[in-house]
Amino acid sequence: MKTFSASAPGKFVVLGEHAVVFGKPAVALAIDRRFKCTVSEDDAFIVNGEKDDINKHPHVKHIMDIHGLKTINLTSESNLPSGAGLGSSAALCAALSCAVRHMLGKPFDAEEILKEAYAAEYGAQGIGSPMDTSISVHGGGIGLNLPDSDNILWSVKNRGQKWDVCDVHTPEMTFVIGFTGKRALTGPLVEKVRRYRDSNRFAKDIVDEIGSVTLEGVDALREGNKVKLGKFMTDNHKLLSILGVSCPELNSLVDAANEYSYGAKLTGAGGGGSMIALTDEPEKVSRAILLRGGRPITVNTGEPGVRIEE
Ligand code: PMV
Repeated sequence: MKTFSASAPGKFVVLGEHAVVFGKPAVALAIDRRFKCTVSEDDAFIVNGEKDDINKHPHVKHIMDIHGLKTINLTSESNLPSGAGLGSSAALCAALSCAVRHMLGKPFDAEEILKEAYAAEYGAQGIGSPMDTSISVHGGGIGLNLPDSDNILWSVKNRGQKWDVCDVHTPEMTFVIGFTGKRALTGPLVEKVRRYRDSNRFAKDIVDEIGSVTLEGVDALREGNKVKLGKFMTDNHKLLSILGVSCPELNSLVDAANEYSYGAKLTGAGGGGSMIALTDEPEKVSRAILLRGGRPITVNTGEPGVRIEE
């Protein structure tokens, strides 16, 4: 039986999560951890060698529906922890869309893969921006809604909101990710922030402030100015805490990492999941995270986006 494989990277958000849902700028970087999907045609729905119920796999179902497939044989492999805020479901959607398109003889087309992956992620989650799917598809670094961008990759519109996604060239840097071990669902956290922002002027100002911090941070990122970038990351963490998406576990890991870092913050939806630290001393940061009960992963920037695997 002929099989078709593709893989896509996970990511972390450097600056701007949550505010991006309201059209503010954000920046995300791909990490050297990937999700791989291998598919083949089959007359049953099979996941990792076992017959399965398609309704238990909403992301997979969405991609299959787009291509009019009722059954498929899917094997997945990943070294990305799920529920950790590292974009594993977006990486699954990007890799699966690419593999299915390859199986059906459709051309490799990053923008089409992005559209399919975002439709699947949004369909399964019911809320959110195209940030995670865009970084999984493009790799490297991406910015959303950056005012000075002349290299737009794609624009996505959904429910009255529009996101212009551009490439952000980033010098090589090392970050340590600290996973709290606490899994949190993105949808309810995004909804919580939406309710707070819609009902409270102060919360709206905080969202705007995250947008301003992100814009200043992007310049520091492009210049490779770690001192400045670290400061903006730390500021961003404080603003996210005010919005109510941090938690004691995240704050503890951020505190632990700060001693050996340029800056640290929660990354992604929060409520658990992971934090990131920008550092030249990844071993020391990793140890500090371990001592507080977190799970450290050292990552480097510059990972390529979705690709067919032979
Ligand atoms: O939970 P994650 O890491 O996939 O990130 C969610 C990022 C948010 O800005 C909170 C939501 C979104 O869709 O942009």
